[in-house]
Amino acid sequence: MPFTDVIIIGSGLAALTAATRLAEDKYVKIITKDKATTCNSILAQGGIAAAISPTDTWQDHYEDTLQAGAFHNNTSHVKLMVKTGREYVEQFIHNGLSFDKDEKGTIHLGREGGHHKRRILHAGGDATGKCFIDFLHDKLLDSISIVEQEEAVELLIVNNRCVGVKTRTLNNSFSYHYAEHIVLASGGCGALYSFTSNAPTIVGDGLALAYRAGATLADLEFIQFHPTMLYVNGHVKGLISEAVRGEGAFLVNQAGKRIMQGIHKLEDLAPRDIVSQTIHQAILQGEKIYLNISKVKDFQERFPTIAKNCKHHGINLSDGLLPIVPGAHFLMGGVQTNSKGQTSVNKLYAIGEVAHTGVHGANRLASNSLLEGIVFANRLADYILQTPSSCKKSFMYIDEETTKPRDLSTLPSVDTIQNMMMKYVGITRSEQGLHQIIEWFESFHLSSIIHAKPEQHTKSEWQVINMITAGWLIATSALKRTESRGSHFREDYPKENNKAWRRHYIQRQRQEMLARILS
Ligand code: SIN
Repeated sequence: MPFTDVIIIGSGLAALTAATRLAEDKYVKIITKDKATTCNSILAQGGIAAAISPTDTWQDHYEDTLQAGAFHNNTSHVKLMVKTGREYVEQFIHNGLSFDKDEKGTIHLGREGGHHKRRILHAGGDATGKCFIDFLHDKLLDSISIVEQEEAVELLIVNNRCVGVKTRTLNNSFSYHYAEHIVLASGGCGALYSFTSNAPTIVGDGLALAYRAGATLADLEFIQFHPTMLYVNGHVKGLISEAVRGEGAFLVNQAGKRIMQGIHKLEDLAPRDIVSQTIHQAILQGEKIYLNISKVKDFQERFPTIAKNCKHHGINLSDGLLPIVPGAHFLMGGVQTNSKGQTSVNKLYAIGEVAHTGVHGANRLASNSLLEGIVFANRLADYILQTPSSCKKSFMYIDEETTKPRDLSTLPSVDTIQNMMMKYVGITRSEQGLHQIIEWFESFHLSSIIHAKPEQHTKSEWQVINMITAGWLIATSALKRTESRGSHFREDYPKENNKAWRRHYIQRQRQEMLARILS
């Protein structure tokens, strides 16, 4: 068994892009808690944004990214993303990834919220993420090792250096994996909420792992709600891509009145925070909201995945009305990184949604997530490939002595956490509601939760422990930000406060918990 150079935790687009590049010269191991194909990237419908049209420029893409992000973005990282992203997309095309084309054989560019131009490349109609993932799996073949169904439960830290990861195996034993570089690519936290577009496994455990390991996290209060989840019998049944609105669909209430007219100049293609907020307010007034697709040309051919899902859930497409609600979709914050993916912990890196590169500001521009994934995965790969290997010594991580397990039998259920997050840290927030959920989280002995050891808990308890950790971090960050900006809307502070808060990142570190215990 060769020494592993790079461990990547997660198996989405950022993970596979980095793995493909690194496999040229390094032994790479991907560790994923489910199947290699269970990830958010595979669910991405709309596409990938890149200014490839002759009538578009990276400067226009840059402007739209900042506007959608409420000018909270890290501007140099945005510039890097929109400029080099276009080149990486062209490289994918050159290497054989096939995007959808129009009748003339030119790549068809879709449009989504916040974009002033058509610049979304898509594949398989509305299956862009799946096409990317299949393409990269084919490229990787047997060049890396993939460990499935092992959950990363602890990052192994020796003197502020990450040397590996402890995992829980399927038969509930623990395994230690060591490498020179450890990359977190575990996705965001949408499944902390009862209404979400995310895979059910995406509960923010990457955030909890990194926090426990002492890494710096930032901007956790910024959770994007996507305006249109298919909503059937009180449950969310999958995403309806914004690209559908890009092709002419629009939002109406039960009386057929268009709800986005007069709200924003881009109407139904306003940035997501604005559309979701408008729908949310209408629902609170007792309205039912629908996506009217009657004007979308060849709906079933252009959006085969969505059409199939709607039919599967008993929706009659010829009525032209799809019932929708907003759902948690994307975390703009995460583990803070520089432009090479380095975190505050030596040899620990983060890429994809779990990372906070700052490119999305307070609200991500549509279809910039796949772009961020490939750009920063490539930057990280460049960095690791150029870094001389240190001597391949093996580490022996000594576990801290475990204390007697605490009785956490009163832990809440996953559903209860998801409903609480939806109610108090959802599309609108207030000081009172945030205090309520924070006190609730803290009633589960928060310091024991943060310092818990996986050996003392079952797999399902551990999931709840991670959810409480991530939920508490999000709620306490949301309480600190006393303004409304992008996806973070505070009823008690409804305006932006540029002087106090613009580009002011709320950072979090486990050290704060130690201070809490000492004080
Ligand atoms: C969508 O297709 O609407 C989602 C794409 C994205 O999140 O950017």
